Amino acid sequence: MSKIYDAVIVGGGIIGCSIAFQLVKRGLRVLVIEKERMISEASSAAAGMLGAQSEFSSDSPMIPLALKSRAMFPQLADELKELTRIDIGLVQKGLIKLAFTESELCELQQQYQFWKTLDSSVRWLQRTELHELEPNVTAEVSGAMYIPNDGQVRAGDLSLAFAKAASVSGAEIREYTEVVSFVTENDQVRGVVTKSEFIYADNVIVAVGAWSAKLLRETGIELQMHPVKGECLSVITEQPLLQATVFAKNGCYIVPKWGNRLLIGATSIANTFHKHVSVQGIYRLLERAQQIMPQLAEAKWEKTWAGIRPQTGDGLPYIGEHPIYKGLWMATGHYRNGILLSPITGVLVADLITKGKHENMNLSSFQLSRKNGITLIT
Ligand code: FAD
Ligand code: GLY
Repeated sequence: MSKIYDAVIVGGGIIGCSIAFQLVKRGLRVLVIEKERMISEASSAAAGMLGAQSEFSSDSPMIPLALKSRAMFPQLADELKELTRIDIGLVQKGLIKLAFTESELCELQQQYQFWKTLDSSVRWLQRTELHELEPNVTAEVSGAMYIPNDGQVRAGDLSLAFAKAASVSGAEIREYTEVVSFVTENDQVRGVVTKSEFIYADNVIVAVGAWSAKLLRETGIELQMHPVKGECLSVITEQPLLQATVFAKNGCYIVPKWGNRLLIGATSIANTFHKHVSVQGIYRLLERAQQIMPQLAEAKWEKTWAGIRPQTGDGLPYIGEHPIYKGLWMATGHYRNGILLSPITGVLVADLITKGKHENMNLSSFQLSRKNGITLIT
């Protein structure tokens, strides 16, 4: 009989790799299985914003997770650097949300009203203040809100650092291997089935992002999971034009990256797994980005790309055990916030597996069995 792992993680994106890192730290024998190359899907396409406040305008069960996860980044950056020598590019220079139209202004004011009661560091900016902070952002805005604690990282480097940290700490990684089904015995998972073999494990964690529904159908449940394509581009400028990330209410954001790069994102195209970049998508992003910063017209073109976000029916990720099979865990559906939520998701899932619980977080909203979470296939 082949080796039995304590945990097999299906999916080599940021969520699978963060969980792998936390599980090997707790002494488990871990295997990560990825159908393509590691970090080749959403996790390498992401802008890397840590938008724990910018992504939420009203109360949500995700907010405690998002705030906790964002707070983990400084220590995590040091830990990963020490283990892997990879610098995840943590930048803590804040995020400015912008409104241009009357209706965007109204929405932004509502978002500000929500956050100002919870966090006095969130500020409404007058035009002069916006100009002082970011002189290259147009004065044509109708409103601006400053969130000093929403930072950013290099998403691909963070994902790789998790993978490498897991690997140097003892995890095995297998690429170009697709999991097609699960080994089960009564109500217990016993491993996974790939196209060529059975691999046995006491726990299986499904972290396959937008591809989760297809795989979970094999276990008799239907997840509410929709792929949402996001297209991005990057340009390079002669001089640095931005300090903070700027994020317009119409969905266009500009994230300053190393080497005077500006990452401009992102479109949201529902129900497609095709990662082609469309002329229309890039054209609209460029129009919006130039409205925010007219100097962009002079920037040097670098590249475009796209990734597939995993969106659930109610917008909340699935974090928890399968309703039928013990030892089968889900960590998926992080939609727009998988980079931000990767540190906390790794810790939560590792604690659930090794301790059976997590002391500090109420995870009921993320269980598969929540209202409208899944349907059983009869
Ligand atoms: P993925 O990275 O997609 O990884 C899943 C992996 O599972 C893939 O590698 C896939 O090949 C593998 N897989 C699938 N099926 C199988 C199988 N049967 N067997 C084996 N392997 C399999 N989030 C933020 O927090 N901040 C941002 O600024 C941000 N910006 C974004 C911008 C864009 C354009 C996009 C597209 C996303 C952005 N996100 C952002 C969201 C974030 O990228 C995702 O939430 C996150 O990457 C999801 O990680 P994952 O590991 O679940 O999925
Ligand atoms: N969080 C940014 C995006 O998903 O585009």
